[in-house]
Amino acid sequence: MRAVVYRKPFEVAVEDVPEPKLEHPNDVLVRITSSCICGSDLHMYEGRTAAEPGIVFGHENLGVIEETGPGVAALQVGDRVVMPFNVACGFCKNCQAGFTGFCLTVNPGFAGGAYGYVAMGPYPGGQAEYLRVPFADFNCLKLPPGTEHESDYALLADIFPTGYHGCELADVRPGETVAVYGAGPVGLMAAYSAQLRGASAVFVVDRVPERLAKAQSIGAVPIDFTAGDPAEQIKGLTGGEGVDKGVDAVGYQATSGHDHSKEEPATVLNALIESVRPTGALGVPGLYVPSDPGGVDEAAQRGQLLVSIGKLFEKGLRAGTGQANVKRYNRQLRDMITAGRAKPSFVVSHELPLGEAPDAYRKFDRRVDGYTKVILHP
Ligand SMILES: NC(=O)c1ccc[n+]([C@@H]2O[C@H](COP(=O)([O-])OP(=O)(O)OC[C@H]3O[C@@H](n4cnc5c(N)ncnc54)[C@H](O)[C@@H]3O)[C@@H](O)[C@H]2O)c1
Ligand SMILES: [Zn+2]
Ligand SMILES: [Zn+2]
Repeated sequence: MRAVVYRKPFEVAVEDVPEPKLEHPNDVLVRITSSCICGSDLHMYEGRTAAEPGIVFGHENLGVIEETGPGVAALQVGDRVVMPFNVACGFCKNCQAGFTGFCLTVNPGFAGGAYGYVAMGPYPGGQAEYLRVPFADFNCLKLPPGTEHESDYALLADIFPTGYHGCELADVRPGETVAVYGAGPVGLMAAYSAQLRGASAVFVVDRVPERLAKAQSIGAVPIDFTAGDPAEQIKGLTGGEGVDKGVDAVGYQATSGHDHSKEEPATVLNALIESVRPTGALGVPGLYVPSDPGGVDEAAQRGQLLVSIGKLFEKGLRAGTGQANVKRYNRQLRDMITAGRAKPSFVVSHELPLGEAPDAYRKFDRRVDGYTKVILHP
């Protein structure tokens, strides 16, 4: 079958790879109809992880069940399903507590598994014609049959629940003001989720005009961080006080406001500490890594950043971090889409055949030509 294969930094190719097979009685095989490219894929694409050539990318997968193992109870051939990017068992301590992003059994020696991702276990990705889904009864979320809302439901695999998770980590409540750093797909979904949770005002910080325009299109206030210190801009718009809550949807590859070719890995964390009022809270779904050989200095290479911990303490701020536990939210968010209460696909800029993946990766990586979110259709 055809699949998107990582070749070397800044290069993926669509190649023939072996078709997956059922390996366990609770597996299903899914014929992929939609698989999105994610900002998380770009860390691997840019060679900023230990990803080896040959890995099949794709952790945001939706499709139709083609084959079920003999132990599958709740699913049938022909069901349309979307899978959380997390691979999870459903029975370990963390899964039972709802922390499916930190499953203890699917990736021995590590808490958490995912499809098509370095260090996240032996699970090839779904930017391909077929995907094997382990522990399928637990990991498949059933969707209404047909093709309606396909691009909305596809976002249930990661970015919609992840944006929502950012708000959950920051405990965004009705009436609050929220600053979201990053207007990539995750940041836009965090801003949208803050609105769904009843925020009174949402500020979205980025530098890419098309992305800031998307934020504005849903009623958020765009903040261009190249036009001046973003925390000062936000304070100026909140009577000097700052916002109640903040979300980091950028992560360790954050760039400088003065020169966006230059990385400043702690800049967003520090800007958030400035932007949020005393006793507020931060949600950090943006990725930070314990080892980054391409980091800007020795400390960053060890995953150690200069964060204003003194200010964080002085202001009594709380912070939550980590991979999203997608399964904790995906059913409820699916039902909001089905009921017409949520339409996250406003972020989708491109829907392309699998064969165009190499070009789509190049453009999405450079954040040009309005490439905000790409869905591939194998
Ligand atoms: N926790 C999770 O489960 C989870 C899931 C998916 C993605 N992620 C992570 O979330 C982050 C965002 O993902 P994405 O798909 O939106 O990525 P993306 O790379 O498309 O978006 C990041 C955005 O941040 C902007 N940015 C860079 N420096 C900035 C700064 N100093 N201030 C404000 N904005 C700045 C960029 O211009 C870009 O638009 C990534 O780190 C990704 O790995 C985490
Ligand atoms: Zn993703
Ligand atoms: Zn588990």
